[in-house]
Parts: sequence; structure tokens; C-alpha cells
Amino acid sequence: MKMMETERLAVTVKEANLPDYEKTAREFDWKEAEKAFSWYETGKVNAAYEAIDRHAESEERKNKLALIYSDPNREERYTFAEMKEKSNRFGNVLRKIGIQKGDRVFIFMPRTPELYFSFFGAIKIGAIVGPLFEAFMEAAVRDRLENSEAVALVTTPALLPRVPVDELPALKHIILVGAQGELPEGYYDFHKEMANASPELDIEWVDREDGMLIHYTSGSTGKPKGVYHVHNAMIQHYQTGKWVLDFKEDDVYWCTADPGWVTGTSYGIFAPWLNGVTNVVRGGRFSPDDWYQTIEKYKVTVWYSAPTAFRMLMAAGDDVVKKYDLSSLRHVLSVGEPLNPEVIRWGMKVYNQRIHDTWWMTETGAILIANYPSMEIKPGSMGRPIPGVKAAIIDDEGNELPPYQMGNLAIRTPWPSMMRAIWKNPEKYQEYFRIPGWYISGDSAYMDEEGYFWFQGRLDDVIVTGGKNVGPFEVESKLVEHPAVAEAGVIGKPDPVRGQIIKAFVALRSGYQPSEELKEEIRKHVKEKLAAHAAPREIEFKDKLPKTRSGKIMRRVLKAWELGLPTGDLSTMED
Ligand code: PRX
Repeated sequence: MKMMETERLAVTVKEANLPDYEKTAREFDWKEAEKAFSWYETGKVNAAYEAIDRHAESEERKNKLALIYSDPNREERYTFAEMKEKSNRFGNVLRKIGIQKGDRVFIFMPRTPELYFSFFGAIKIGAIVGPLFEAFMEAAVRDRLENSEAVALVTTPALLPRVPVDELPALKHIILVGAQGELPEGYYDFHKEMANASPELDIEWVDREDGMLIHYTSGSTGKPKGVYHVHNAMIQHYQTGKWVLDFKEDDVYWCTADPGWVTGTSYGIFAPWLNGVTNVVRGGRFSPDDWYQTIEKYKVTVWYSAPTAFRMLMAAGDDVVKKYDLSSLRHVLSVGEPLNPEVIRWGMKVYNQRIHDTWWMTETGAILIANYPSMEIKPGSMGRPIPGVKAAIIDDEGNELPPYQMGNLAIRTPWPSMMRAIWKNPEKYQEYFRIPGWYISGDSAYMDEEGYFWFQGRLDDVIVTGGKNVGPFEVESKLVEHPAVAEAGVIGKPDPVRGQIIKAFVALRSGYQPSEELKEEIRKHVKEKLAAHAAPREIEFKDKLPKTRSGKIMRRVLKAWELGLPTGDLSTMED
């Protein structure tokens, strides 16, 4: 690849928290960031205390708004003092039923204030939280609760039918938000228990390496992986909140991600609250009018979203934007997939804001590469590594490659928010660290001569659709459960709005005829058994699927067919 003249967008955010990148990158030490917290002296920590109680105990912030919650039916506001009280109560509820340090407490519910109280209450008593996206269906819920051996689950009566309680021996306690009437043993009414619980709580002080969170993420093979994070991650949540999100005392911040995904915890919970910033949470479904109204009504200043959302807003047109006053916005960011230069240009036109791309993964726990507010943006680039982190492009032997050569995007180990394990799967964990000294991201990229990184693609078959990671294997497994399906191969097909859509190639069992109705039925099966976002938008019937002699479906051949590209080496393909 040769050097290119790249477009550059000048700095528009003034007084950014990262004054001089080169200097900070040279001099910064993570030990400095730790000094913001008292545990740097005591050694004992609790991230929920640092995010909530620390502010609730300060004169300046105790009555400051921590959470502004709204959805089409509800609007509520909570100060840091109120967040402290609510999470204390929930910590006591969990203690009363016997939850202890290290137990897994899962939360499977829509974004509502109760989700956040539960989240902090569990962390305060040293439990490990597993947030599950509300759209998951039974199979997805079962896999995650089974693997983590969750002891308690916070959910709602509407979602409870998707929890196969009888098949999960470890799951002893179900706490229902919105419970009605008498409940059987092992079930608790959230609001009733909260009302009876004490507002004072003895926090469980833990070690910085003690567990805090498990987020499940999809790989290309096998079941979803439980990515395990510890309290120490908060250092990086806090510091990237300052540098990249550029938090200031008066900011009103909105992260559009659900806590079922890592962005919704690292940046929807920890980064803003560790920095004492007012955090907006919008429940309900995506709609351009609702979204713009949220910015206008709460005077959002810092906004973190995803390319797929920006593309949907772009598709909704410029006229919608004009109906709202978005002048409060001062800083806009994106994560999750490649951010198209076209979207950045559109953002400058309609929002008068540069959209700042950031790169990281569930496994990395926090932002590693970013376009800083204090830096020129090169549209199409993910930006430069944060100070304290070294990123490089390496080949499969671990040699660092020169600028413009494509290879593995790798990070020097360790960094504060790095995952500490894949739950009960040490082999998978080791795969990320197979080259000594490096974390291998699974993304391919190149670096330019100024150290900006440019994303090229995933090296595995993981599909990123609408900002969500979907493992083709999970979808294929669900497809072959349908009585008509003999074999299935699933790929990501490029899509202008969603980045990729899921396309399934399906071979039918004998006795079944291809038809549009059958496609619809198969799609519905995946939707109801796995998750709506994992259901194939396109299905194509084939007599036979390309397979290796060992019987593995060759997704790269399916992809080549789909894109009209050469199929490459077919030597391992069966006849
Ligand atoms: O392929 C990269 C893509 O999303 C993957 C990580 O997905 P997940 O663990 O779900 O975390 C998403 C949000 C933290 C990466 O391996 N990705 C993430 N950010 C970008 C990106 N691709 C291109 N540009 C980005 N800025």
C-alpha cells in the first residue's frame, strides 16, 4: 500500500483535556491516573464506591444530577446522593438472600433506573455482574447463565419466560422488577425488597484485581465467550473519560449503548460517573425524533454513539435535524465499526460537529485508539493510541511492520482495563496472547507515518451488524435446529446502513421445497430462539454448501460467491 494524501479536519473542541498528545504520550504513567482515587493509598477499592458514593459524600456533588432517565412512559432524575441510597438498598437486598463476594449476579432487563441501581448494588457487595441485552431470547440467555453459573438474576415478568429457570441448577434467586401478587419461593419483588432494605450499606472493599463484570461476546466458533473484567479497569474508564470524551464538570453526557454491550457499561456507566458527570439514559427504541428530542431537551453536550446509528440518522434526512435545537452539543464520538468519512462530513454539515472515531473491544475493556478532541481528524482513521498504550501492526511471527503495511492490529500487554480471563475457558484466553508480549485483536489494519491507525477488517468471520457482534456459528447452529434445514453457512454482507447484514445460505432437508414462506419461517425461528438482531435478513437456498473435507463450512467461499470475487484456494474443499 502506498502513501496517500489524506483529508484532515482541524481541531474545533477547545480546551481539551489532553493538552499535547506527543508530550502526554511520552510522559504519562498509569500510576498518575490512580492518584485521583483514595485507594491508591489504601489498596482497597470498590468501583461502585468511586463512581457513586465518592461524589455523594462530597459537598459539591452530592446534590448534583447523576442520572437523567427517560423513555416514552417515564422520566426520572436522581442525584448522586439518591443513587448511593438506591444502590445501597439493593446491595442489602442481595446480602439478605445470601449473595456473596464473587457470586455472579446477572441483570436481564430493559434500560431503566432499576437496572442501574441493581448494577451498582451488586458491585458494592463484591458480586460479579453480568448484564444481558433485553432482546436476547431463550437460547442466548441459557448459554450465558449456564456458563457463568449465575446465582441470582434481576429481570422483569415480561422477560422471565425466556429464562429456562428449571434447567439452570446454579440459579437460586430471581428478583422481579414489576412483580405482581404472591411469588413462589426463590422469587422476590424488587420494589418491596428495596422498600424494606436499609439505606446504609457496609461496602465490600475488594482487591483491584477482584472480579466486577462479565460481558459475553461472540467468536467465529463455539459458544459466546465470557469476557471477565476486574475493578482495576476503572482507572482507564476514568482517564479515557477525561482525555477522549473530554468530560468537564458541567457536561451533560449521553451514551446511546445498552449496558448489555460493553460500551453501555464502560462508557454508559463508569466513565461518566467516575468523572462525576451528569449521565442521560434514554430507554425505548431508536427513532430520529426521539433521539434529537433527547439532545434538545436535556441539552446534551457530549454524545457517544455508533456508526450504524449515525447512518440511520443520516438516512432519516436533514429536515428532521432542523426541527430541533442541537446547539448544546460540543463533542460527538463513535465506536463499534468503521466510521465512514461520508458520515463525518455529514455530521459537520448538520450538527456542526466532527464525529470522533474511537477503537476498542469488549476484551480491551476501554478505549485504546482514538481521535482526540485536541487532534486533527483524518476521516476514515480510528486515530492514535491513548498515552500509556502501545499499538502496532505485526505479522504472524510478532514482527512490527512499517507504515502502510497491513497486518494484525496488536496491543502491548498489559493495560489497566484489559480482560483478565475468558470465563472457564483458559485456552480461548491464551489465543489472544499467542505472540509473547502482545494482545492480538483479530482486526487487520495499517498505520500511517504519523501513527494514525486505519481499520481494514476482521480476520475471523465475526459479523458486525448494526454495531453488534454476531458469531456466524451461533446463527448457523440455530438455523440447523429448524426441521427444514440440513446445513447452513452464515456470512456478513456489506450494507450501507448496518455496516453488514447477516446472510444465510441454507441447504434444505429432502422433502422440503424452497419458498418465500419457508424463508420467513426460518428467519422467525432464529429471531425467536436467539435474538432479533441475529436473524438473517437474507436467506438463499442452495442444493449443497461448500465444505472442507473435514466437513467445515467454507464461509470465505460463500462470501466470494456473494461478492462476485475469486474463491481462492479450494484445495481443502470436498468434491
Ligand atoms: O472489529 C472491530 C470493531 O468491533 C470489534 C469489537 O467489537 P465489540 O467487542 O462488540 O466492541 C465494540 C465496542 C467497543 C473490533 O474488533 N470495531 C470497534 N471499533 C471500531 C471497529 N471497527 C472499525 N472502527 C472502529 N472504530
